[in-house]
Amino acid sequence: SAGSYLAGLKLVVSAGPTREPLDPVRFISNRSSGKMGYALARAAVAAGADVTLVSGPVHLPVPAGAEVIKVETALQMHAAVLNACRSADVYIGAAAVADYRAKQVAEHKLKKGETGAGMIQLEKNPDIVAEVAALHPKPWVVGFAAETDDLENYALGKLRSKNLDMIAANWVGRAEGGFDSERNALQVFWRDGRKTLEMADKTSLAVQLLQLIAERMHEKNPI
Ligand code: C5P
Repeated sequence: SAGSYLAGLKLVVSAGPTREPLDPVRFISNRSSGKMGYALARAAVAAGADVTLVSGPVHLPVPAGAEVIKVETALQMHAAVLNACRSADVYIGAAAVADYRAKQVAEHKLKKGETGAGMIQLEKNPDIVAEVAALHPKPWVVGFAAETDDLENYALGKLRSKNLDMIAANWVGRAEGGFDSERNALQVFWRDGRKTLEMADKTSLAVQLLQLIAERMHEKNPI
């Protein structure tokens, strides 16, 4: 039925920011609120999926009916997502993963002389969504791309370089939509098609995106 288009599917979604500690009081993070990922988790439960939500630190209520795994760092998110994705049909990477973490986390609060230019060494975090897309067997993989410019080119580049099945791109830093907003608009791309999901609240956007995913999955693996 229209209400249970994800019945029988295991869906894993990541949401929110990650937090990369520098010392006991400081961290590197970003402006993700987690609203899009949580809306996707709620809508997927309502559509009949078995949902695991891997969430960075956010201020949102836990979605009823989902298994929620709370994490802080990108490495913790990486471990939780890869573990959950071993048996998943769909992975949606809606988390804003920090690209870098501190090479060494100080045990004491860093003093002013220890935090100047060039003092904190960073190393790259793993690309979680790209690693999920490299699994055998792999779930159907959807990435997100938040861009301030050249949305289509960056989104298509990420679709290819990360070997995604679909990417949902949105503008950030504009009047409406993006981080922390209740509303958003998405340009969705896959290998041989695209669709614009017009500005709407994230709950209705989540339903539209999940319906599109269900359609595309059945196109690829007709029943
Ligand atoms: O490369 P960029 O961060 O713009 O790509 C965004 C997409 O990649 C999102 O789906 C995000 O969840 C995912 N990502 C990830 N691991 C990273 C960086 C980004 O899974 N380390």
